[in-house]
Amino acid sequence: MTIFRSGGIHPGWPDPLGPLRVPAGVVRLRPVRLRDAAVWSRIRLADRYHLEPWEPVSGSDWTVRHAVSSWPAVCSGLRAEARKGRMLPYVIELDGQFAGQLTIGNVTHGALRSAWIGYWVASEKTGGGIATAALALGLDHCFAGVRLHRVEATVRPENAISRAVLARVGFREEGLLRRYLEVDGAWRDHLLVAITVDEMKESAAQALVRAGRASWA
Ligand code: ACO
Repeated sequence: MTIFRSGGIHPGWPDPLGPLRVPAGVVRLRPVRLRDAAVWSRIRLADRYHLEPWEPVSGSDWTVRHAVSSWPAVCSGLRAEARKGRMLPYVIELDGQFAGQLTIGNVTHGALRSAWIGYWVASEKTGGGIATAALALGLDHCFAGVRLHRVEATVRPENAISRAVLARVGFREEGLLRRYLEVDGAWRDHLLVAITVDEMKESAAQALVRAGRASWA
């Protein structure tokens, strides 16, 4: 097993990412932490109907799963996966405040060098470029810090906003995964989108800056 510069098996973790300025404010990514419990719970409980149509089903009820008391186990689980080199679980911050999450998962090195990426943004902060900036920062880190070759994501065809975010950052569609994930009470088709490092003519963040969608903060 390769031991990387950071002393662990996980290159690129726990580096914070950003900042990048978008219309909503200044976006940064930093590792999840135990003291996110109250804000995470407040937003996730209030945003149930914003988030539930797009997120995989979990065994327990939404209210129970997002109680303040549920966060320590969720957070510890994510951080344990991060220490093992399998995940990079970030909080998206807007102007220093919790605004959502971006998670890079199923990190695989060796000949595959691949991962998936997913995200959500609090409904009170949407429409200002936060997800686009966070995705660009996460993607650039996958290729630079984590040294991956390919990053993929899955998205419901009906999720027009997230599809727009993915397309803007450069993800291209590869196909339709039929009845792929149990979401919102049924097995839902998902589009598979992906990008490989050789498709990147410049960093994703740089491309947003050049397109006038972001600026270096
Ligand atoms: N149809 C198409 N595009 C739309 C629509 C619409 N109905 N409504 C808004 N948009 C556009 C916006 O105009 C904006 O584009 P613009 O910058 O060109 O104006 C874009 O969609 C949204 O971009 P951002 O502002 O960067 O995204 P935002 O911070 O609002 O977050 C997100 C988007 C993450 C999808 C948020 O709405 C959310 O959390 N939704 C619920 C959870 C979710 O869907 N997560 C993604 C699951 S798929 C995955 O993780 C790979």
